[in-house]
Amino acid sequence: MSVAKKEYKRVTVKSLVEMKQNGEKISMLTSYDYSMAKIVDAAQVDVILVGDSASNVIAGHETTLPITLDQMIYHASSVVRAAKRALVVVDIPFGSYQSDSKEALRSAIRIMKESGAHAVKVEGGVEIKDSVKRILQAGIPVMGHLGLTPQSIYKFGTYTVRAKEEREAAKLKKDAKMLEELGCFGIVLEKIPAQLAQEVAESISIPVIGIGAGGGVDGQVLVVHDLLGMTHEFNPRFLRRYMNLYEEMSNAISQYVEDVKTSDFPNENEQY
Ligand code: KIV
Repeated sequence: MSVAKKEYKRVTVKSLVEMKQNGEKISMLTSYDYSMAKIVDAAQVDVILVGDSASNVIAGHETTLPITLDQMIYHASSVVRAAKRALVVVDIPFGSYQSDSKEALRSAIRIMKESGAHAVKVEGGVEIKDSVKRILQAGIPVMGHLGLTPQSIYKFGTYTVRAKEEREAAKLKKDAKMLEELGCFGIVLEKIPAQLAQEVAESISIPVIGIGAGGGVDGQVLVVHDLLGMTHEFNPRFLRRYMNLYEEMSNAISQYVEDVKTSDFPNENEQY
């Protein structure tokens, strides 16, 4: 269904709720650096997520756990300098909000103050209720993240679909309601059954952004390197690749190597 889109010069947390009310789907993509964020922002993506997936995609770690608050702030400040229209949301990394709510607030304040971002995202439900509450009380917009929460990968054991069983699905619904009632402006639902995700989206007034959560939610998020086909070894069912940049970049770089080796580069027009 195509919906007449309202123009947003600058997307805010309020705009996202309005988009949900108007039935306009919300687009969200990750970025971790200035150059990529400039392209993503110019393409009118509504929300740029400075995800802790930078730990995997940029730093090459196996999980999102090792990335630090300082590193997230560095990535976020680069993205903020590029984003003229999109709302910039930053993941609070593992270990920077779970131990107590004061630490959570300190971390959120550092992100907002030192990067200039517009909002933070945290993973979990009732377990982090006090932290979410305290951050919100300081006037910092918070986005929740339920379902497959990669910071808890060692508890889950695998990256398979979450909440297939009734008990986990019921907890997820309760957590989503709680996050809405606390005042979060949106929730990411990762890798859960489409039917459950749709039920959650229909039961709360704040936007639900899915990744591997089907089409019945209010918007979609992907890791931009996956969408562009740069991370060619990652092939989950939910991923639609719009390019095969891995191959295109490899070919271009191999050609460059060849051109240097054969003294084809630089030619007469490429020197002073
Ligand atoms: O860190 C990240 O990129 C995320 C998305 C997968 C939602 O949290």
